[in-house]
Amino acid sequence: MLNLIGIGLNDEKDITLKGLELVKESDYIYLENYTSTLQCSIEKLEQLYGKKIILAEREFIEDGSVIIDQASNSNVSILIIGDVFSATTHISLYLQALENDIQVQIINNASVLTAIGITGLELYKFGKTTSIPFHESKTPLEVIEKNYPLHTLCLLDLVPKEKHFMESSEALEKLFSLGFKKDTKIIICAQLGSKNPTIIYTEAENIKPLNKFPQCIIVPGELHFMEEDMLEKYKI
Ligand SMILES: C[S@@+](CC[C@H](N)C(=O)[O-])C[C@H]1O[C@@H](n2cnc3c(N)ncnc32)[C@H](O)[C@@H]1O
Repeated sequence: MLNLIGIGLNDEKDITLKGLELVKESDYIYLENYTSTLQCSIEKLEQLYGKKIILAEREFIEDGSVIIDQASNSNVSILIIGDVFSATTHISLYLQALENDIQVQIINNASVLTAIGITGLELYKFGKTTSIPFHESKTPLEVIEKNYPLHTLCLLDLVPKEKHFMESSEALEKLFSLGFKKDTKIIICAQLGSKNPTIIYTEAENIKPLNKFPQCIIVPGELHFMEEDMLEKYKI
């Protein structure tokens, strides 16, 4: 049996009761350690779950062979920060399990893709999500421009095992070098889902490093007056 379990955005207490029950019945528990980061340590998760957790890097999950092997005769849980399928890589593991006649349980949870609703922007008025990578790429700006008048969510690159996370200010420098206007109004979000998330609405050139991760940037499209009203609360 393979369990794909979303563990939410913030800390050990964000797992659902269904997720926790499956974890407690598992022989192997892997925490996917490359698409996002929590605000608590792995030890905190282990204490609450009462189980040993193995950190799993991209190659291990994407290859999938060890997991599929183990799941064919024992219970395996993969813990995914946020929601299960909001980073596409986990679909291939799901498919591999189905092809090998392994029973799969999916436990959904909150995702950054919906937590951004706190900004007041209508979720159904977002266009394609883009990622701003550490390496040079023109794609993010192309996506922002194509999306307009829809809003654009920009996810920022990270290497959790090296504790290396992109600051919004660094991501914006990359966009400026491609011609993104410095006075464009943007929204920065950090640690959504935590007790003290940071949400800032201002011109892109005003953004300083926050040293608080993970962060994302939203480039608003055309704003409804209700969206504008809510954004006023985050203005600096
Ligand atoms: C590839 S996505 C992972 C999505 C995750 N599986 C989910 O459902 O939320 C990771 C990126 O989303 C953004 N992100 C994730 N969690 C966040 C949070 N709590 N607050 C702000 N941005 C976040 C960051 O840009 C981070 O680099």
